[in-house]
Amino acid sequence: MNVASPESRAGFLCALGDIPDGGALEIAAEQSGAPGVVVLRRGDEVWAYRNMCPHFSIPLNYEPNTFWAYDAELLMCAHHSAMFRFEDGLCIDGPCEGAALTPVAIRIEQGQIFNNEWRR
Ligand code: FES
Repeated sequence: MNVASPESRAGFLCALGDIPDGGALEIAAEQSGAPGVVVLRRGDEVWAYRNMCPHFSIPLNYEPNTFWAYDAELLMCAHHSAMFRFEDGLCIDGPCEGAALTPVAIRIEQGQIFNNEWRR
């Protein structure tokens, strides 16, 4: 039987273990200038959002794969400190309070995280 590796399957983003627990992982877009994805983790829970702050429509980080997360609950935009909840991407403090990150639908299969609707 020929079993494809997770990385070769459509929509593969990363392995659960690639994401720091209580933190975030950047999945860069393959297309130059397209928004990537930020994947957030709290234990076995994972959320994914387009890596684009609703304040200025720019990435949430300014250094590759460097994010500020607090108490495995909040992700802070590196530019003007907007604070987004892990679980729904809602901004609860900062210049775009009430706005939200754009969710990316994911599924977890045996510790591997996939997205079927978004193509890098
Ligand atoms: S660009 Fe994110 S808070 Fe301003």
